[in-house]
Amino acid sequence: MSALIRAQNLSVSHPGADRPVISQIDMHIDPAEIVTVVGPNGSGKSTLVRALLGQVALSSGRVDRLSGLRIGYVPQRVHIERAMPMTVRRFLSLPQRVGDAQAAQVLERTGVPGLEKRQIVSLSGGQFQRVLLARALLNAPQLLVLDEPTQGLDQPGIVAFYKLIEEVRAETGAAVLMVSHDLLVVMRASDRVVCLNGHVCCQGTPQAVSAAPAYRALFGAESQGTLALYRHHHDHDHDHVEPGHDHDHVHGPGCTHDHSKG
Ligand SMILES: Nc1ncnc2c1ncn2[C@@H]1O[C@H](COP(=O)(O)OP(=O)(O)O)[C@@H](O)[C@H]1O
Ligand SMILES: [Mg+2]
Repeated sequence: MSALIRAQNLSVSHPGADRPVISQIDMHIDPAEIVTVVGPNGSGKSTLVRALLGQVALSSGRVDRLSGLRIGYVPQRVHIERAMPMTVRRFLSLPQRVGDAQAAQVLERTGVPGLEKRQIVSLSGGQFQRVLLARALLNAPQLLVLDEPTQGLDQPGIVAFYKLIEEVRAETGAAVLMVSHDLLVVMRASDRVVCLNGHVCCQGTPQAVSAAPAYRALFGAESQGTLALYRHHHDHDHDHVEPGHDHDHVHGPGCTHDHSKG
């Protein structure tokens, strides 16, 4: 089966900016795979996601989406008027009305059953993320797109959320495109990682990316942990593949051009 979304030589410039926010991006998302985009603040992750979804104009390149592709999208910032009372049940029916049974089912699936009558503003961060995910699941998406879904969650909350995402993927067969800063958890839970800094620094399996010099240059000390994770894994694997000599494929021009603002 062909890719759900494929970007070729994709560049986006924001009006008035002197250089593109993201340039010459080649990437794709296959059915049922979990792809995570990592990169520093301002590296263009949200812009890339919105370009893949067709929400921003491209300055060059192309994005192809499977025709009729059903997408469940949770943007990085969900604006909810704090002063306006709104129950979870009503929130799930915006913008499209859904039945009670379906609402109950998605809340159950995301681990927050019975929240229908609660006010959105009264939810914890973790509950709110699960309600957002529940709403994204309503149209039986083939692709879930989650932009920093674990922002503001504590470490156990983050781990639990990724576990939930893997369960949803296993159950529904939906592919997942996620933006995240949680390097260690990302590396465990993703099939492929795209390391972005205005351009694609490297992409490939978590093992391959965590060993790539471009990734280590970009994330510094933090990246050592993810590499150690795989070294450790190798140590206990009893296979005799040396780190750096396995069959994982990393590709990308490296991070020689720094588009971030620090
Ligand atoms: N609509 C916009 N107009 C102008 N500049 C923007 C717009 N959206 C994002 N930017 C700029 O593009 C850069 C990348 O933003 P973004 O894609 O949100 O990065 P990330 O999600 O990796 O933090 C930032 O410098 C940001 O200020
Ligand atoms: Mg962002």
